[in-house]
Amino acid sequence: MPIQVTWWGHATFALQIDGYNVWIDPWLTDNPMTNLTPDKVEADYILVTHGHGDHLGDTIPLAQRTGATVITVAELAHWLDTQGVKTQMQHIGGTVNYPFGKVKLTIAHHGSRLPDGSYAGPPCGVLVRSTGGQTVYHAGDTGLFLDMQLYGDEGIDLAILPIGDAVTMGPDDALRALRLLKPRFAMPMHYNTWEGIKQDEKAWGARVAAETSAQAVLLQPGESFELD
Ligand code: NI
Ligand code: MN
Repeated sequence: MPIQVTWWGHATFALQIDGYNVWIDPWLTDNPMTNLTPDKVEADYILVTHGHGDHLGDTIPLAQRTGATVITVAELAHWLDTQGVKTQMQHIGGTVNYPFGKVKLTIAHHGSRLPDGSYAGPPCGVLVRSTGGQTVYHAGDTGLFLDMQLYGDEGIDLAILPIGDAVTMGPDDALRALRLLKPRFAMPMHYNTWEGIKQDEKAWGARVAAETSAQAVLLQPGESFELD
């Protein structure tokens, strides 16, 4: 059964997997790329890559209203526990089975400070392997690293990579990442939200086609991609 991947701008994604609503970094309030508000959406699970406001986003109100389980690294999970949110802590390299599939947390080279200034543990990316067998890699905020090759060895269908530069990989390193990850499809994120991370995603998509074995998937915020 195909899964549906919807981009809500920046690093915010909603996956529909076998009837489960799985969010990644649900930043909607104050996200300049969408008018969607967190009171309008359903969530069963929420994956959070790190504590920065543009990723933690609406996690707390969304989890509180829907009762969704938040999946993230131990330090951030413990902080969320104190906010009245149901959590499942994992850590980098570890996999846990959920009704929608398996989640492994991956390395990300970045920072992770919470809005209140406390430490959220290391940042991460996520590898989601659906019950139907599709594997989605959301890199989180990160620079390029060679170990992406090891994640590529696991077989990735869709790689979602930052291309904004300045605080994450830019377009060139995202292409190098694709050569390590070898996904079937590649989707850019974390660009055009602010002045400092403006990129030409169409030019990047053309380079994906010319320079890698992946097929670029370029969405507008609110659009979905069906992954078989
Ligand atoms: Ni960040
Ligand atoms: Mn960010």
